[in-house]
Amino acid sequence: MSEKNDVFEKIVSLAKRRGFVFPSSEIYGGFGAIYDYGHYGTLLKNNIRDLWWKAMVQLRDDVVGLDSAIFMHPMAWKASGHVDGFNDPQVDCRQCKARFRADHLLEDFGIDADKATIEFINAELGKLREAGKLKCSNCGSRDLTDAKVFSLMVKSNLGSPTEALSEENVVYLRPETCGGIYLEYKNTVNSARVKLPFGIAQVGKAFRNEIVARQFIFRTREFEQMEMQYFHHPSMTKEKYEEWKQSRWTWYALLGIPEDKIRFHKHEKLAHYASEAYDIEYDYASLGGFKEVEGIHARGDWDLSQHSKFSGDDLTYFDEKTNERFIPHIMETSVGLARLFLMVLDNAYTEEEVKEGDVRTVMKFPKSLAPVKVAVFPLLKNKPELVAKAREVYDMLKQEWQCEFDDNGNVGKRYRRQDEIGTPYCVTVDFDTLGEEDASLKDTVTVRDRDTMEQVRIPVAELKDYFAKNLK
Ligand code: GAP
Repeated sequence: MSEKNDVFEKIVSLAKRRGFVFPSSEIYGGFGAIYDYGHYGTLLKNNIRDLWWKAMVQLRDDVVGLDSAIFMHPMAWKASGHVDGFNDPQVDCRQCKARFRADHLLEDFGIDADKATIEFINAELGKLREAGKLKCSNCGSRDLTDAKVFSLMVKSNLGSPTEALSEENVVYLRPETCGGIYLEYKNTVNSARVKLPFGIAQVGKAFRNEIVARQFIFRTREFEQMEMQYFHHPSMTKEKYEEWKQSRWTWYALLGIPEDKIRFHKHEKLAHYASEAYDIEYDYASLGGFKEVEGIHARGDWDLSQHSKFSGDDLTYFDEKTNERFIPHIMETSVGLARLFLMVLDNAYTEEEVKEGDVRTVMKFPKSLAPVKVAVFPLLKNKPELVAKAREVYDMLKQEWQCEFDDNGNVGKRYRRQDEIGTPYCVTVDFDTLGEEDASLKDTVTVRDRDTMEQVRIPVAELKDYFAKNLK
């Protein structure tokens, strides 16, 4: 196994062992490409989401928020082109039933089949088959099907039990969150007193029937997106595009990501309505290289034009200053929360030799993202005075930060456990805190730093100030 795969296995294992991410429905044998987030995973995910929301909404005067429904009128997905065109080409192994993305199979032979027609894909697969090069990477069989189109849309039914079974009642679980933003563009203009240029941001679940999803939480069938659609006059496209590219790039520093671990990838093949498309890619050690995290796309007037045409509603904007009426153009930033989550785990995962032969695993999350900020320990769990004092400290600190009380095992073990969940500070209440030997140490505690492992002695009365300063 390569070193990269080793990191992958270690991260997946730590994520489960320490309660970040669990495979869904495990007691039933799991459920393909669906994951649940445990206590620390939920806290970390919320912190990443909040950091995005702060940068994208709270700190901006030109972006407002939205929380639209997952179910939308099915016609909306006709208008967007998803019902007819949101497909991937699929190939099956007749022997072991493994399933592949045909464009990915071709990519392995250096053939670019991104957005290619099914005819092109099958012609290229045919050539490889004839040359004896095409075989199943799972079982080695050469018995692979031709590629067929596979819709990524996840269907559901709404309505009364009898109606629900009919095809006309099919509804879709949204494949991207931006659809709801387009549909609420008009209500937002009419209610939020916004003027062009402005953006609407939302965070929410999206669903895709992905053919292959084998990279832990990188590609799943249910996932969260954080999307922002920026409505503007077409003359502003270039300027706003550069601004958003820059602002999204700098945001990654807040997640602790060094600049040399991210890069822009320019799309050479654009959707017919798009004028510019870049991805931000991160160099995932666990996945063996650079992979897409976020897309920044100039989408022109396609979305509002299509919804205007299909709904019959006028979605033009009237600019009072210039007396101009037009369909706004859209700039999109779209990022998957789970991809960011995996990026943050990947970047934070560290193994360090503490002393010879003694290696610790520590998640070096930026403090702002750490799921638990402070852990509080009584030195010994069977000394009621220590436990009572530690509880008191814990009760005080948890008013301000996510804290954890831990009295299991010895202090060394507790440090290792907190290192693995990335807790920046551990506070220990010991006999000196009680002032039994040295009255000058009464009501002081040790504070241990996750990264340096150094310990300082601090009066309990100063802890809040200390953490307020150091947890920024
Ligand atoms: N509205 C545009 C859009 O949805 P996309 O490139 O299909 O564009 C945007 O998706 C982002 O959503 C991706 O960059 C990725 O971070 C995330 N994403 C897409 N499919 C995903 C999946 N199956 N699992 C996890 N994240 C996904």
